[in-house]
Parts: sequence; structure tokens; C-alpha cells
Amino acid sequence: MIDYPVFEMPVLGHRLIFAIDAILHVLISHGAAVGGSVVLVLSQWWAIKNNDQKMYDLTYKILFVLFIAATAIGALTGIGIWIHANIIDPPAIGSLLRVFFWKWFVEWIVFNVELIFLLLWFLTWKQLGWEGRHKNIKFGIVYAIASWLTMVIITAILGFMLTPGNWLTSIFPTQPDYVASLFNPSWIPSLMFRTFFAIGFAAAVSMYWTWWFTKDDIQLRERAEKFFSKITLLSIPPTVLFGLWYYSQIPQEAKALMFVAGLTTKYVGHKEMLIFALLGAFALIMLAVFLFYVKPRGVPFVLASLMMVSYVFLVAEFERIREFVRKPYIVYGYMYAHGIRELDVAHLNNVGVLKYAQFVPVQYRTVTEENKVKVGEYLFKLECRVCHSVNGINAITKKVKGLDETAIYYRIGTLNSPATPFMPPFVGTDEERKALAAYLASLVQDKNTQVAKDNKGGQ
Ligand code: HEC
Repeated sequence: MIDYPVFEMPVLGHRLIFAIDAILHVLISHGAAVGGSVVLVLSQWWAIKNNDQKMYDLTYKILFVLFIAATAIGALTGIGIWIHANIIDPPAIGSLLRVFFWKWFVEWIVFNVELIFLLLWFLTWKQLGWEGRHKNIKFGIVYAIASWLTMVIITAILGFMLTPGNWLTSIFPTQPDYVASLFNPSWIPSLMFRTFFAIGFAAAVSMYWTWWFTKDDIQLRERAEKFFSKITLLSIPPTVLFGLWYYSQIPQEAKALMFVAGLTTKYVGHKEMLIFALLGAFALIMLAVFLFYVKPRGVPFVLASLMMVSYVFLVAEFERIREFVRKPYIVYGYMYAHGIRELDVAHLNNVGVLKYAQFVPVQYRTVTEENKVKVGEYLFKLECRVCHSVNGINAITKKVKGLDETAIYYRIGTLNSPATPFMPPFVGTDEERKALAAYLASLVQDKNTQVAKDNKGGQ
């Protein structure tokens, strides 16, 4: 991060805003695009096969909802991810773009094909009508294949960030191994896990919308709910099996962070909370889907809604855990979350990070007694701000409250210790570390005096 300008994101912090955007995107890409395309093509095919025009029309109604979701929210949040990733961590997205350039280029083409065929499928549905059904479904099939292919490439990149494999061992630094980066250990299991999860999720979304759209045709509801719930039920065993394979591929250090990731450090002592929450959500989904299968008429609306909420919870929690367990890295074993390469740490500890901090005004690139608080603020922005805000979410002021400058100085030296292995080490000279300590101490000085007074008052 040291040679890029820094953007502040007050109060919420970068992490939370990015998380909201990315989770929305995953919900749409999995529920509406990748899974939705497969489920609705199946449903269209099934309607054609059984000469069931009502089911055919219902499929269109659900497609209408997913179409709006995919084109509006999906596309917007997708662009949001690009822009925000560049703001948060330009060196990281820059590395990924270089390693995956041609794959991403292909993905972009496939994405355009995907959108074109979604438009064709949706916009010609009514025009072609029941007579043109055999032609129309072909658009849907191409859309489904293209959607899945974009996921193939994106999961390779996500997998690479967590399990980069042997991409650097051969001939680095002259030439990373691009084939190894693609065939990284968690690629195939995570791709298959997401594929089956997406299909099950999309079928659940279809059950939900069927509930809405079939209020005055109970027989149609029965057929459709049975059909969609069968898809979700069938998707669960492969989702679980590929999930276990995926889990087996991730580094031991990442597995060790699973509970902090799911619960935050505050609640990590209560591991049962995470287990109950995940099992509870899974049980609710199973109950609703099973009921949709055996008694499609009798599923209460509350239960159908809880099924959706549980799915959203599982998606959000999964993405949060996956992102968190990769810490302190952004690309495992290569680049830390604050954008500094592991390879450069020793050198930067010698010469300092400020020397390379092009966007820090020149008078703050050397530490003096007078400027050290201001320099410390720049160091905070360069190395801590990706994860900490000053006063908002994960506020640094809360983390150092009650510590004096010396204690903070020592704590900065052990950020990557076994107690907090998810933080990258502080990188820089001893002078720079002192400047950061001075800045952090200045943030809480008044509060510390308050704490001291309160303590006195109590004695
Ligand atoms: C990769 C993200 C990340 C980065 C970068 C990061 N931190 Fe943290 N830090 C965290 C998280 C997560 C916690 C724990 C939050 C919680 O307790 O819920 C934390 C906790 C802390 C704590 C309290 C630790 C304790 O004793 O419990 C301190 C102090 C701290 N950070 C300082 C820093 C400083 C200074 C920097 C910059 C040099 C920094 N952090 C950079 C993620 C990060």
C-alpha cells in the first residue's frame, strides 16, 4: 500500500462496506445467475416435456425477478467490487490482474456472452411464446453455460488467494507459474462446492417465488414446489462432499482461525454459538425444503421466509469466514493484507516504508521529534487502515485504550504474534514504529487521562 494514495472510509471502514457489496454480489451471482440459470432451464425443460403451459408461465415469472436482480444489483455490485478492491488494496488487485490477466480477459468476454444470452432468453420468451419454446430454451442453455464459466474463472482467482500452490517456487522472481496459479489446490473443490450450493440456493429462491406466484392455483403450486424442492434436496449431498474436500485443501493456519472468523474475537470463547447458528440455519432450510417436497400446499409463509433468511445467513457467514481465515494475507504467503509483500519485509524494516511512500508529503517521510504524531498518522493509514477505522468499526482507539505510548510501542512489535495471528506484522524501522505509537497514544490520551481519573475516584 505504501506507494499509492490512501482513501479514508470513515465510520463503517472499508472492510464492512466491501463485505456488504461482495455478499450482495454473491447472493445474486449464485442465486440468480449461476444457480438460477440451471434451475430455470431445468424448469422450462420440464414444463416443455410435460406439456405444462402453466409451469412454463410460472418459470417466466420467476425469471423476471431473477433477471431484474442479475442485471441491476448483480452488475452494479460487480462494478462496485472492482472499484472498491482498487481503492482498498491496489497492489493486491494489481498482482492478481497480472497473474490472471488472460483468464480475466476471457472471463470478461464470457460475461458479455452471458449477458447477451440472458437478454435474448428473457426478452424473446413472450415474443416466441409457447410455439417458440424449443428455440427459446436454447438461449437459456447458453446463458447457463456462460454463467458457470465465469464462476470457473473467478473461483480460480479466489482459490489462488487462499491456496496459491506452487506458483512461485519454480523460477520466481522472473516468471511466476501461471498454470500452477490456475490449478491451485482449492480451485476445483471450491468451484464444485459453489456450483452445487448455487443450484440448491436458486431452487430455494424459486420455491419462495412460486409460493408468491401461485396463490390462486394450488395444483400448480404443488407441482412446482415438488419439482424445485427435489433439486435442492439433490444438491445438498454434493455440496457437503465438495465442501469437505474444499476444507481439506486450506492451510492449517487458516483452519485455526475458523472460529475467530465466524464469531469475532469478542465471542470466540463461545464456539458453540457458531455451531448452533450454522446447524440451526441448515436445519431450518432442511425442514422447509422437506416440507415443500412432502406437503407443498402446507408450508407456512413464515417458514419459507426463514428458509431464505437462513440461506442469506449461510452465504454471508461463509464469505466472511473465507475472507477472514486468509488473514494476515491477501494472497497467502505472498502479500499481506496491508499490501506489503512478505519478500520485502526485511528490506523495508531496514530502510523504512516512508522512503517509498510517494503520496506522503515529503516533510513527513523522515521522523523527527516534532512531526512524529503526524508521521504516525500516515503510517496508520498505510498499514492499519485496511482493517481498522479510527473511531468506527474495529476502531483502533478501542484497541489501544488504556495503553500508554510505551505499551503501544511494544504491542506494535507483536501484531503478528500467536495471540493475533490474523494481523500482518508492522513493517518499518524502529523510528517509524515509535511514530506510529506516538500517534496512537495521542488518539487516546484524553481518554486515558479519564480512565486514570476514574480509577483514582474509585480508590
Ligand atoms: C488484516 C487486518 C488487520 C490489519 C492490517 C491490522 N489489524 Fe489490528 N486487528 C485486526 C483484527 C481483526 C483485530 C481484532 C478485532 C477484535 O478484537 O474484534 C485487531 C486487533 C488489534 C489490536 C488489539 C489486539 C489485542 O491485544 O487484542 C491492536 C492493538 C491492533 N489491532 C493494532 C493494529 C495496528 C497498529 C495495525 C497497523 C500497523 C493493525 N492493527 C493492522 C485486524 C487488522
